[in-house]
Amino acid sequence: TITNLLWIHTFLSLCSSLFFLRVQFELWDSDDPIPRQELLKKVKGCDGLLCVLTEKIDAEVLNAAGPNLKVLSTMSVGFDHLSLGELKKRGIRVGYTPEVLTDAVAELTIALLLATSRRLIEATHEAKTGGWGTWRTLWLCGYELADSTVGIFGLGRIGVAIAERLKPFKVKKFIYTDVAPRPELAAAIQAEYVSMDELARQSDFLAVCCALTPETQGICNKNLFSKMKNTSIFINTSRGGVVNQEDLYEALSTGQIAGAGLDVTVPEPLPTNHPLFTLKNCVILPHIASASYTTRNAMSALAANNLLAGLRGEPMPKELQL
Ligand code: GLV
Ligand code: GLV
Repeated sequence: TITNLLWIHTFLSLCSSLFFLRVQFELWDSDDPIPRQELLKKVKGCDGLLCVLTEKIDAEVLNAAGPNLKVLSTMSVGFDHLSLGELKKRGIRVGYTPEVLTDAVAELTIALLLATSRRLIEATHEAKTGGWGTWRTLWLCGYELADSTVGIFGLGRIGVAIAERLKPFKVKKFIYTDVAPRPELAAAIQAEYVSMDELARQSDFLAVCCALTPETQGICNKNLFSKMKNTSIFINTSRGGVVNQEDLYEALSTGQIAGAGLDVTVPEPLPTNHPLFTLKNCVILPHIASASYTTRNAMSALAANNLLAGLRGEPMPKELQL
């Protein structure tokens, strides 16, 4: 079963490869997620499954698939929608799509950061709706990157790519925190390893780039926000679950921090009546960090190649070590 495989040339190459492998396949041919019941029905007896991050792949799906299932390929770099323990227990190999989306995610993170710090969404709304009375000295003032300290929470490929793009904005200093120092990655951007408390205290811009795991669940909470400067900007393009949203709402509405830009929330979609939508200093995007044509195409091709390699019993181009 192949869910949400969107790009026709990948689809065609996959078809021809599958044809030569003499494999039967079924495609969920829609941009909307496959309904759960449909997935549970169609996965029965499959050897391989290609999914996207809207599908929770847990014991229920794996049981529905049955013992034939050998390969799971997710078209995402994140894997918090997969029950890794259940996959490992069943000896199912897992492919994912790191690296091909790093540029797109880093680019979007910069766009979101600037939109938040320079209040672009508020500004365009004012311009359109008559708020633009005249040029005013303090109107719509925000915060600039020049001479700032940028903190990265979870330094991986994406964090490094964000820092590389921010350097030309004359950032003064990069700092980061992670479960342990990552000297090789940090050297590329001359970032200093600090504690979580120091990261909160020093950062003018704090970008969350970590994976969602039991350890990072809700880690951006009251404790973190209360140590941040009231002029600082919080950006999250990783997973919504890393943030305690009630604490973030509190921090934004009381002026504890200056603004937040979120590409990810809990739940997704965030209900339109959610309190965070009432805040001018919160910019919310609908999980679009990797959404460029080039990148989604590359993710789709990599996910298909991971699946095929797995079915052939070969090493996958990008395999998750369980
Ligand atoms: C997107 O969020 C991904 O995990 O690829
Ligand atoms: C801004 O437009 C300026 O002239 O300072």
